[in-house]
Amino acid sequence: MKICVIGTGYVGLVTSAGLAETGHYVIGADIDVQKIERLKKGEIPIFEPGLKELVERNGAAGRLEFSSDIGGSIARSQVIFCAVGTPMRADGGADLSAVDAVAEEVARSVRGESVFVMKSTVPVGTSIRIRRILASANHRVHYVSNPEFLKEGDAINDFMRPDRIVIGIDDNDAFARDIMARIYHPLNLDKNRILWMDPASAELTKYVSNAMLAMRISLMNEIALLCEKVGADIHHVRHGVGSDSRIGPKFLYAGPGYGGSCFPKDVAALIHTARDHGLELELAIATERVNQRQKGVLFRKLRAIFDGDLRGKRIAVWGIAFKPRTDDIRESPALTLIDALLADGATVSAHDPEAHANARALYGDRIEIAPDPYAAAQGADALVLVTEWRPYQNPDFERLRSIMNRPILLDGRNIWSNYGLRALGFHYEGIGVRGS
Ligand SMILES: NC(=O)c1ccc[n+]([C@@H]2O[C@H](COP(=O)([O-])OP(=O)(O)OC[C@H]3O[C@@H](n4cnc5c(N)ncnc54)[C@H](O)[C@@H]3O)[C@@H](O)[C@H]2O)c1
Repeated sequence: MKICVIGTGYVGLVTSAGLAETGHYVIGADIDVQKIERLKKGEIPIFEPGLKELVERNGAAGRLEFSSDIGGSIARSQVIFCAVGTPMRADGGADLSAVDAVAEEVARSVRGESVFVMKSTVPVGTSIRIRRILASANHRVHYVSNPEFLKEGDAINDFMRPDRIVIGIDDNDAFARDIMARIYHPLNLDKNRILWMDPASAELTKYVSNAMLAMRISLMNEIALLCEKVGADIHHVRHGVGSDSRIGPKFLYAGPGYGGSCFPKDVAALIHTARDHGLELELAIATERVNQRQKGVLFRKLRAIFDGDLRGKRIAVWGIAFKPRTDDIRESPALTLIDALLADGATVSAHDPEAHANARALYGDRIEIAPDPYAAAQGADALVLVTEWRPYQNPDFERLRSIMNRPILLDGRNIWSNYGLRALGFHYEGIGVRGS
């Protein structure tokens, strides 16, 4: 099948390469001309494990190409996936200007009966808005809602072996149903993963999934604060709670608050959509409020350690990406910490295995970006672990103590809490843990 994926970001690039891997002919199209030029040269503009090999293999096989000619790419395709960004507006709602622009281009450029597949995360009701735009095309364009659930850092696996494939489609649309079933057939062989539903339910499923996961994190972050007050340990509580098969162990980790390009904006957009319909989603509102407070937890702990005066202190930050195995720094708790430190007159030396270029683009020379973790810790008055990259799991603590100005470790992910660090001479704090 001839498929065009519009938007070659984290979702679009994985979708393009994944669909090509299953035999389709795919054009990845984007208005960012520089990004497309890099892709044409074989450069992958983002870090996502396994993506480079997948793009190279399918490019070499002639099944994957890239273009900045959006209209031309649409004209050559029967199925058009929309994977452009839907960032948060100032009022918390989703900015749909990019998806509108894609729909307008599709309406102008389609050359035959085709299917428009919405992969971007869009508020419930967007299908009605986009259909109105598509109705001006000279050919019938079927609308399908197909929200994406991949996780950055494990996106290829999520694409190839999804828990479920949600497809929102009109009951009587046999044409689009047949095409979607054929597209996803290779991912659906061992068991049926496709959940057919109406577009509004599909749109809402995506937001509720993210809100549910965000809620679990916010609950555990609140409980971690309570642990510190009452002398309990969040590790034990997490194990105890997560061992209940009704609850399960995932997304129960206390930390510096959730970030990334999805949870913050999607929880906000869900709240906004409900308000548009006269509803206050109290649980979602609390989830967001708890998270905003939690994103300041590392800074508050540092201020307490330094008696409220961080001026002139050199703080090392390990991890800038919002989670390991990605270079994505959008809404990362590390940014909240770094901004607060800079505003308070501290200096920051940071390290991240993959996000250094994005951090450099954001901060320029306002922070030091060190080539390795120990260079970041050199002469530091405190070291804060924000992102639990694997190479940070077992550092040489003796070396750290010898190169740091003060032996202060703040562990935002509780990964060092069992290492007996106080006995090694460190001041150690985690989030809701008793150990170390
Ligand atoms: N990143 C994730 O983990 C993830 C997971 C699931 C769903 N989503 C959703 O998928 C969508 C895309 O997210 P992303 O992280 O890939 O975004 P992104 O910012 O990485 O990529 C978006 C791309 O769209 C391009 N673009 C913008 N306007 C365009 C236009 N008019 N025509 C062509 N290209 C255009 C941009 O240049 C950019 O390359 C969002 O709605 C997001 O909520 C993201």
